Amino acid sequence: MAKIKVALAGVGNCASALIQGLRYYSMFAENPVGLRNPQLGGYAPSDIQVVAAFDVDNRKVGKDLAEAIFAPPNNAPRVTDIPKTGVTVQKAQTLDGIGKSAANVIQASNQPGVNVAETLREANAEVLVNLLPSGATNASRYYAEQALTAKCAFINATPTYIASDVAWAKKFEDAQLPLAGDDLVDQVGSTALHKTLLKLLSNSGVKITETYQLDVGGGTESLDTLDRTREAKRTIKTQSVASALPYKAEIVAGSTDYVDFLQNNRDSYFWISGTYFCNAPMRIDLKFSTVDAPNAGSVLFDVIRATKLALNKKQTGALIPLCAYAFKRPPQMMPLETAEKAFAAFIKENASA
Ligand SMILES: NC(=O)c1ccc[n+]([C@@H]2O[C@H](COP(=O)([O-])OP(=O)(O)OC[C@H]3O[C@@H](n4cnc5c(N)ncnc54)[C@H](O)[C@@H]3O)[C@@H](O)[C@H]2O)c1
Repeated sequence: MAKIKVALAGVGNCASALIQGLRYYSMFAENPVGLRNPQLGGYAPSDIQVVAAFDVDNRKVGKDLAEAIFAPPNNAPRVTDIPKTGVTVQKAQTLDGIGKSAANVIQASNQPGVNVAETLREANAEVLVNLLPSGATNASRYYAEQALTAKCAFINATPTYIASDVAWAKKFEDAQLPLAGDDLVDQVGSTALHKTLLKLLSNSGVKITETYQLDVGGGTESLDTLDRTREAKRTIKTQSVASALPYKAEIVAGSTDYVDFLQNNRDSYFWISGTYFCNAPMRIDLKFSTVDAPNAGSVLFDVIRATKLALNKKQTGALIPLCAYAFKRPPQMMPLETAEKAFAAFIKENASA
């Protein structure tokens, strides 16, 4: 099976989890505990090869990826050592990549930016994965343009509207390239857990009146969220959670605060209030703790492999079942079970022989 040649925009904590995961599962290929889909449509994680990477932090630019993923301010846990990859992190244009709060922890490189599309072509990249900070709207769109120019499929892990924007989806359709996004779901995510709890309760006849879900984290992404994406993230998550209930309730989901000593850990707090038989009250008050970056790994493995299947079968534009399965803000939101079924059918239909 030919390798899936992937480029990364942003060598932050998610990129660290992805690169470490590729190494980790190459060592535990026989017993891949922690992966949702060890094989997907004929591809294993070991078929993924990172061939180019871009960043703007002085401690990452010019370094081999194996070194750059452990450079501060990254704080994803080190689960394995990585031998040199032969991929040097290239400096790209910063645009709005560094937010006000994140500027305190990112050391901006003053090297000139490379021509991203040309670098993608030289590396024979087939898929560009956008792992920029969530507030980097212009920079995310810039990478989407570069993917179009270089004829790469594009995966948007950030909340910037690209796959869910009709005009952008059309650009990829016209260029005969696949597109996936927006805002990657977590493998064990607070949004999915929240939706599942609400659905379970409402299916049992509970009338949910109010619910919230708030996060506290210590990664650069939580810091960036403070000054520029709090509202956008809150809207995306609240809409997603609201879709789990067949009626309207008071819902707030996805506000994040930054606590530096938490490092890459995230604590999610859930509160649900409702009534059931004869108006009897019920409450859920729950804390859920995860490590942030590894939460993206298994889903990224799935999205990259599914996008490659789409490339093989010349599917173009936003990949609706993949977006619904793996992203919080897909072009078409589906209930969890429906999205999973649609994704399974998509994989079956496009699987390599
Ligand atoms: N579990 C998860 O971590 C998870 C889940 C869903 C979505 N996401 C999304 O994935 C994205 C990445 O998350 P992260 O935790 O890795 O963030 P991060 O802040 O750790 O990494 C972002 C990287 O992008 C770099 N960067 C900034 N501007 C750039 C530019 N113009 N060009 C190239 N690089 C640039 C930064 O220097 C940094 O290395 C975020 O948008 C986040 O919302 C993450």
